[in-house]
Amino acid sequence: MESKLAPLVDALKSKKKVCLFTGAGVSTGAGIPDFRSPDTGLYSNLAKLNLPYAEAVFDIDFFKENPKPFYTLAEELFPGNYAPTKFHYLVRILQEQNLLKRVYTQNIDILDRLAGVKDNFIIEAHGSFATSRCIHCKKEVSIKKLKVMIKEKKVPTCAHCKGYIKPDITFYGEGLPSKFFETWDKDRDDVEVALVSGTSLTVYPFASLPSSLDKTCLRVLANREKVGDLGRRKKDIVVLLDCDEFAETLADLLGWKDDLEKYYKEGQKKYGKSHAVEDELEKIDEKLKREAGVEKVDKDRSADHSEDEEGLDELINKLKI
Ligand code: OAD
Ligand code: ZN
Repeated sequence: MESKLAPLVDALKSKKKVCLFTGAGVSTGAGIPDFRSPDTGLYSNLAKLNLPYAEAVFDIDFFKENPKPFYTLAEELFPGNYAPTKFHYLVRILQEQNLLKRVYTQNIDILDRLAGVKDNFIIEAHGSFATSRCIHCKKEVSIKKLKVMIKEKKVPTCAHCKGYIKPDITFYGEGLPSKFFETWDKDRDDVEVALVSGTSLTVYPFASLPSSLDKTCLRVLANREKVGDLGRRKKDIVVLLDCDEFAETLADLLGWKDDLEKYYKEGQKKYGKSHAVEDELEKIDEKLKREAGVEKVDKDRSADHSEDEEGLDELINKLKI
């Protein structure tokens, strides 16, 4: 494998930046299931939800009719006691070494953020749980309130118009966030090294990104299986393995092994405690609101959820998400 990775190691040593394209497979090491792996993937384990087809759980038209299956699943999917993997910490080290161009991720688990990758490097192409809003009047709802409603097994509804509340994750039938398109327009002609990892490249438009890269780009696939058109170009590097193993190997080849181990161990310790994730989510929520020029939005009291903020905190602590 070392000789296979040599062109990548050389590129990094000559200060070329890496643009990552990732999916659920980079987080399976954290204990979060991916979607399409046979047996363990989410889509083969949805029988209990009685769906017409597995993807319906993330379909906006289906959600408008019947949001319950999504909320049943949301309890499991909500960022909780999951710590970043070694792969996520490799991304952080790339950032520290000034070798990171961008991380385009389909994941909604915010593990890149928890690993310390900065907001300006992250494009969450399918959104995230960091913000939520009413599907009718679009009013924002804080992550705390949403969490409480989900835990109480109530379908979260808007205090103003009774519309269903949905986290800002991209459902089938919805457009990707504008930030995705704006940033990709800037980045697309300027990617020298691409690393595709943990994705089956089945969902468009994301799946088309690696194949649209310039022919001069060094493309690397680190995944359990071959995907997309990776491997079809002469310069492509394909390593079929676990992404954490890939992270360890690359870190070793570049002299970053100790840092990787250290960050990973710290992460395991820190994010084993639920409130650490909670705090991080809140920071992200506040930051996004500041960026949008909105001050504390969610001050209103909903009819169903009129506890004061202190009461809510207590409740969340008790629930230990
Ligand atoms: P998939 O489940 O489709 O693909 C995961 C890929 O990662 C597969 O190729 C696995 O073999 C591989 N894999 C799993 N664990 C791995 C590991 N530890 N190391 C290396 N490879 C591993 O997940 P995505 O491609 O992310 O969209 O799915 C794309 C989109 O489909 C999701 O964002 C979601 C879903 O429907 C929406 O909900 C809109
Ligand atoms: Zn509303």
